[in-house]
Amino acid sequence: MSSPTLTSETQLTPDSLPQASSDLVANATSADASSTTQADFQPDVFDQHVMSTYGRFPIALERGEGCRVWDSNGKAYLDFVAGIATCTLGHAHPAMVEAVTTQIKKLHHVSNLYYIPEQGALAEWLTANSCADRVFFCNSGAEANEGAIKLARKYGHTELGIDAPVIITAQASFHGRTLATVTATGQPKYQKNFNPLVPGFYYVPYNDIEALRTAIRELDAEQRQVAAILLEPMQGEGGVCPGNPVYFKQVRQLCDETGILLMLDEVQVGMGRTGNLWGYQTVGVEPDVFTSAKGLGGGVPIGAILTKRHCDVFKPGEHGSTFGGNPFVCGVALKVCETLASENLLANVRSRGKQLRAGLQKIVQKYPSLCTGVRGWGLINGLVLAEGIAALDIVKVALEEGLLVIPASAKVVRMVPPLIVSEAEVDQALALLDRTLSKLA
Ligand SMILES: Cc1ncc(COP(=O)(O)O)c(C=O)c1O
Repeated sequence: MSSPTLTSETQLTPDSLPQASSDLVANATSADASSTTQADFQPDVFDQHVMSTYGRFPIALERGEGCRVWDSNGKAYLDFVAGIATCTLGHAHPAMVEAVTTQIKKLHHVSNLYYIPEQGALAEWLTANSCADRVFFCNSGAEANEGAIKLARKYGHTELGIDAPVIITAQASFHGRTLATVTATGQPKYQKNFNPLVPGFYYVPYNDIEALRTAIRELDAEQRQVAAILLEPMQGEGGVCPGNPVYFKQVRQLCDETGILLMLDEVQVGMGRTGNLWGYQTVGVEPDVFTSAKGLGGGVPIGAILTKRHCDVFKPGEHGSTFGGNPFVCGVALKVCETLASENLLANVRSRGKQLRAGLQKIVQKYPSLCTGVRGWGLINGLVLAEGIAALDIVKVALEEGLLVIPASAKVVRMVPPLIVSEAEVDQALALLDRTLSKLA
């Protein structure tokens, strides 16, 4: 198969993948809507009814336990994707099962027009365990970033006196798929055909302080004033590119000197993935505002804007979300947070990450024609591929071997397992990756 073009955060163009295999439906029995299992699953019927925004691998995942998932044919996979850095506690973790069950029986949704104790408890945990003072809850990473963009604009208007505030973001960044966040995303391929984009964004190279200073000077000369800088502590979708702590300290200093807000997108790397609870700890600065999603709910949909008090500018009626912060997601997310602490998962992330990178380095030495390097922190790591090697080709063979991994850009294979991953499972993943590469070498 020709190398496909990556078009989204690890998502593939529909025509870049084989059509869902008819083998998958060979054993399908007639579907009973009330008891549809994935043995009944028919990819062609799915494709008729679901919009083609994703290219999909031709398997249907049916159940999971820990770091393993099984497809409709009963084949097991070691899950080093974790719903793209989302299933913090893996699959069917007893603490999550208990929290989901308890909360759904008690109360699952009420309006934010009333006090929601679970929301308060989660906000209390998050503020006690971060530099933030207050939290707003929503449903996804894009929605959290969208809210942070609104917050920055309001801060620009009311606190900095800017009429048309500009937000600076980085080239190769990824911030989401809403119109404002896709504009914030510094990658033209995500913006193509969606113009007119949202005004008020400007892009600079990542990890380059001189470029940032120059941009602010040039914008100033054009009477365009900057309200905020929005950066990822590590660019996940952009290819697992870690932020440079020296750069982040310089950005912090620049923001302190100018009053510009420093906003960090922790959607992918927050909640323990780097080996610290927050990515900002890994780059050694405190943001004014940061966003979280993915790992926060361990797989239930939740997003959050976390802010220091001085930039907590929203007043009642200025921002909101029907589902955001409902009792169900907050009850479950709080359990994820508590389990992260009670199971000492940050220590596990650090040691398993070290083990994984050491193993990946050996793989790089063994297959120099296929891969050239390893980069990452904690349990977000990328295998950097050699010229002419496509991440998607490796991902597909790994899947056949029983290992789920995903591309991060076209040239990096990303590994983001659940934070509960064991030493034996890391060894097993390395062995499966070795076998994958030996097939391709
Ligand atoms: C850094 C970052 N920000 C934002 C998003 C968007 O999150 P969501 O898909 O939950 O909207 C992603 C998703 O990959 C991400 O990695």
